[in-house]
Amino acid sequence: MHSVESAAPTWDPQQYLRHAGHRTRPFIDLLARIPQLPGNDGRPARIADLGCGPGNVTALLADRWPDAHITGLDLSPEMLERAEKDWAGTTAGGGWLDFRAADAAHWTPEEPYDLIVSNAALQWVPNHPESFAPWVAGLRPGGTFAFQVPGNFTSPSHALLGELCETPEWRGRVGDQGRRYVHILEPGDYLRRLTDLGCETDVWETTYHQLLPGEDPVLDWVKGTALRPVLTALRDDRAATEAFLAQYRERLREAYPPGPHGTPFPFRRIFAVARKGA
Ligand SMILES: C[S@@+](CC[C@H](N)C(=O)[O-])C[C@H]1O[C@@H](n2cnc3c(N)ncnc32)[C@H](O)[C@@H]1O
Repeated sequence: MHSVESAAPTWDPQQYLRHAGHRTRPFIDLLARIPQLPGNDGRPARIADLGCGPGNVTALLADRWPDAHITGLDLSPEMLERAEKDWAGTTAGGGWLDFRAADAAHWTPEEPYDLIVSNAALQWVPNHPESFAPWVAGLRPGGTFAFQVPGNFTSPSHALLGELCETPEWRGRVGDQGRRYVHILEPGDYLRRLTDLGCETDVWETTYHQLLPGEDPVLDWVKGTALRPVLTALRDDRAATEAFLAQYRERLREAYPPGPHGTPFPFRRIFAVARKGA
């Protein structure tokens, strides 16, 4: 008898980075809407990146704020190891990039920040809106809290995963692992919560009509993200992993047929940029 795994999912930076182009684009769109940071005293900006993953988007912050001290925070030792290896240390503009372990569910700013940012991570953090107040409180006057989360949890890729996990064959093995990352609010709720905190807030959503290359590319995509809890729950049983993936692959092929130029994979994302009063 197998018990349902409920530990934190293990992450695979290499698998995650296979779609780095598509995954980075929303962060660049988010960055474009972040206003000038406080620091008119000439002091370098202090920045936190919650759920920084392998650090490649954290490093983009150093392109925009070259002398900033930027700290990437994440729960996954695998992601932190990759981020450290690839990005830690002095940045090209004379700033500093470091990474450390932290659970965003409990993290509160330990010093004043000019920017707290999070890309594609808060969907993994239950009750993250409850942390908005302490995070905004931890910003300097005029500082910004900005995040992006996927908004595609009713799309076939995610709905099919949840349904498969709940079939009698898999329920006992993976339980609700196929829906573990679903903790987001709708854009209007984010807008209300952040304006209630006194922030000047910009919330929007974008659906990216991604064209993925290769065979079974949607499966390859979710292997880097939404499938992590299931892959973690089944990690000691190769045959079960293969059987689960085969059934999921079959469903995905039907839902996302390849076209002549690749497989269209629409992806909705929700963005929020909240500036604290100066
Ligand atoms: C989809 S990846 C995004 C990584 C990166 N921000 C990016 O945009 O490429 C989600 C990341 O959130 C991290 N994460 C999940 N839950 C977390 C938590 N409670 N606290 C901190 N990080 C968390 C995971 O370890 C993973 O690295």
